[in-house]
Amino acid sequence: MKTIIEPFRIKVVEPLRMTTREERERILRDAYFNVFNIPARDVLIDLLTDSGTGAMSSLQWSAIMRGDESYAGAESFFRFRDRVQEITGFDHILPTHQGRAAERILFELVGGPGKVVPNNAHFDTTRANIEHSGAEAVDLGIPEAADPTNRHPFKGNMDVGALERLIERVGVEAIPLCMVTVTNNSAGGQPVSLENLRAVRAVCDRHGIPMFLDACRFAENAFFIKQREPGQGQREIRDIVRDMFDLADGATISAKKDGLVNIGGILLIRDKALAQRADALLILTEGFVTYGGLAGRDLEALAQGLDEVIHEDYLAYRIRSTAYLGEKLLAIGFPIVEPPGGHAIYIDAGKLLPHIPPAQFPGQALVCALYREAGIRSVEIGSVMFGGGDHAPALELVRLAIPRRVYTQSHVDYLVEAAEEVYRQRTEFPGLRMTYEPPYLRHFTAKFEELPRS
Ligand code: F0G
Repeated sequence: MKTIIEPFRIKVVEPLRMTTREERERILRDAYFNVFNIPARDVLIDLLTDSGTGAMSSLQWSAIMRGDESYAGAESFFRFRDRVQEITGFDHILPTHQGRAAERILFELVGGPGKVVPNNAHFDTTRANIEHSGAEAVDLGIPEAADPTNRHPFKGNMDVGALERLIERVGVEAIPLCMVTVTNNSAGGQPVSLENLRAVRAVCDRHGIPMFLDACRFAENAFFIKQREPGQGQREIRDIVRDMFDLADGATISAKKDGLVNIGGILLIRDKALAQRADALLILTEGFVTYGGLAGRDLEALAQGLDEVIHEDYLAYRIRSTAYLGEKLLAIGFPIVEPPGGHAIYIDAGKLLPHIPPAQFPGQALVCALYREAGIRSVEIGSVMFGGGDHAPALELVRLAIPRRVYTQSHVDYLVEAAEEVYRQRTEFPGLRMTYEPPYLRHFTAKFEELPRS
């Protein structure tokens, strides 16, 4: 069969509200041209993020009724712990309310002034938590990742030579751990190969540096390994996942992605002494060790989600549906980050809209156009998110992130039709001026006005 269908049928539906172009024009203006200010009910297809926006299965919903809400030693914790242990091989498993809570605990323990933490590319909350501790966050992606059209099969890889040079420059004592993010969100949802993980591990071993994974999208990464890495095609996803975790001394996980739940996070630590100190911080800021930042029912849904996410038919559908959107956009003429990533398609708005300079936010102009045309919500990852002061991002991107198990192929086809129209009108989009700039994480609350069309 050529068509990879959604490997589920729909039992519960959530109506979408259609809006008119006039309504959307008003809504966009009322939101000061910042889609974070648009109420979700006014969005038709919401591609702001794949985080916490997925649909749970009937088995997850029924597991929720089983939730044991005991303060200590709840049955739900043991079911969660056993599932995480079975998949990752880790013994020490801390539940947190989401990924960044795991990051905060970890970097409060190992970060601090003078420390340097390398990663293939830090996600913004990871970077923020490292910097909040006083440490420095360094991105060491491979050079191919900087070229949107380069179709390297593992464009999320870490530059191992650059890691060696960093260790030489700052000294082993300054590096409390080395992180690898799978898949690499900031580089376009691109995977990291097992070979690269092993090479990073070898460098870390030579210098006695622990290696941690940021494993939010571990299952999607494993599927790419199965598809693309020589010698991996016949292996079970479960075994590839286990290989990835076996290479690590720890992991931070946002369960809102491949946990297939709407809230949750996990911190994994192999070192007993470090794990004990993490337990103490967990109790201080999240909750007792057998629930952390979650309710018993959340732990149940997560235990079930972690089983469903490594099913191969689910992953084949997931990765295929993202690629389908990417291929359709490429065929229209959109420059995108190639090859399509696992959880999202990233459009190169700088290249699409050369008449809008970075200072007038071409990414934001495209975000507004997609909303205006069809009520589609995307997110700018360029000068709005990372600019300001002397920072200038290398690329002006717009991310279309795909929620898990939420939209069908006809939603995507509708989106593609809207994108065709947007592409036709691209030379007419106005640039924007930021009229309000908050002191940090400015993209969430900034306000804009559209400049007169020239
Ligand atoms: N690490 C990566 C690679 C992420 O993509 C995210 C979240 C986090 C850590 C933090 O997890 O949100 O549970 O605290 N990414 C979302 C996104 C928000 O839209 O890409 P969290």
